[in-house]
Amino acid sequence: MSPSDAAEIDRSPDMAALFARHDSDYQNLYSRYSNEQLVRMLKMIGYDVGFCRGEGPYLYDRNGVRYLDLLSGFGVFAIGRNHPAVRAALNSVLSSSLPNLLQMGVSRLAAILAERLLQRVPYLDKVLFANSGAEAIETAMKFARGATGRAGIVYCEHAFHGVSYGALSINGDEMFRRGFGPFVPDCVHVPFNDLAALEQAISHRAVAAFIVEPIQGKGVNMPAADYLKSAAALCRRYGTLFIADEIQTGLGRTGRFLAVEHWDAEPDMVLLSKALSGGYVPVSAVLMRKAVFDKVIDHMDRALVAVSTFAENNLAMAAGIATLDVLDSERLIEKAASTGDRLMRAFSDLVGRYELMHEVRGKGLMIAIDFARPQSLGLRTAWNMIEAARAGLFSQLITIPLFADHKILSQVAGPDSHAVKFLPPLAISDADCEWIIKAVEAVVADCHRVPGAVWSLGRRLAVNAART
Ligand SMILES: Cc1ncc(COP(=O)(O)O)c(C=O)c1O
Repeated sequence: MSPSDAAEIDRSPDMAALFARHDSDYQNLYSRYSNEQLVRMLKMIGYDVGFCRGEGPYLYDRNGVRYLDLLSGFGVFAIGRNHPAVRAALNSVLSSSLPNLLQMGVSRLAAILAERLLQRVPYLDKVLFANSGAEAIETAMKFARGATGRAGIVYCEHAFHGVSYGALSINGDEMFRRGFGPFVPDCVHVPFNDLAALEQAISHRAVAAFIVEPIQGKGVNMPAADYLKSAAALCRRYGTLFIADEIQTGLGRTGRFLAVEHWDAEPDMVLLSKALSGGYVPVSAVLMRKAVFDKVIDHMDRALVAVSTFAENNLAMAAGIATLDVLDSERLIEKAASTGDRLMRAFSDLVGRYELMHEVRGKGLMIAIDFARPQSLGLRTAWNMIEAARAGLFSQLITIPLFADHKILSQVAGPDSHAVKFLPPLAISDADCEWIIKAVEAVVADCHRVPGAVWSLGRRLAVNAART
């Protein structure tokens, strides 16, 4: 490409051309002008393949190689990447001259999306929109305090609710908090699944809210059968609001519209985000009871206390409306349930056959395979060697070969975790399931060969971890 062609592309509004023109230098630009450590990390684990295209559950690299995306942008692409129905809705907004962000006027599309969300959660009455999961958390914390007049917020160990200050104050993992304190006061953690600890924490009637992920995203920790319903009942007894963070679990991910439906719990607030806009536009929604809303916004003077400039923007609202339609028209929630059952069954079959595999957890298409220290001497020695370098390093011996050898993008379930997590788009096909099952078995089988390629990789990662 001649310098003048390049300069023309740099000035043109054609973003696909601009994207293509910077294939060779975007990592350098990113390193120089943004997060250099992220670029280094992706290089080290071999994920720097230069993805060029995304469609449905697939990503394509610069050589046209197809990858199955079981990360889904941390759960954003439940309906698949670049879904044409959402794109059409967005194009219709872009090619219209609809009034947007009137601020001194209410959003019609927000009203419509709010109605459609509440039709799916009929025990709640009001919706406030925001721009991210963390912003939804901030809104929930404020409304809980405002509505109850209490300061306390109870959250769970290992919880993840985002990294803004309120959200970080109720983050159950020290790795995210280190160096950022002090945090919002009166936030207290309890162990997940411990009703006695919850009761002790809220029984003095000074706690505004208990905020909980129905299934914890970090680790895919499952609630005990009666946990959520009993926690809701305890909260009601002590005047504490029960808030379900369904930012990751909501919108069909677990095979129901909300994960709490599996356990028959009815929260006072439900938080949604991630999948709501089909992955095109940042958006979140806080669904709540009228009594909570009206306590906080109780007068015209207070009409704007929860305002956020971009919250009801037309693109996010249109994408939300279209995404809900896609969930229905493609029966994605039912598909998530049945595909999830199939994958869980297949993975569970492997547990008895491979000693490194400890447990399979999850619901619908939120699944973790948990690995544990093996018994046999050779494997145990190899495991100890890499786990001594960094706890949780073993999980990368699964995710890296899944990516490099089987073209499957997945993630470690959390800091220090021995679990590998899958959050596929909800419409993955039978052929995709076969792809996943075969790849997981092949990688796990390779891990049982000591010495072998996987443990050589482990040694390299361990040396690197020890250095850093
Ligand atoms: C359960 C849960 N809550 C909140 C958040 C924060 O969302 P965001 O990254 O959009 O701020 C996340 C993000 O992963 C999440 O999984």
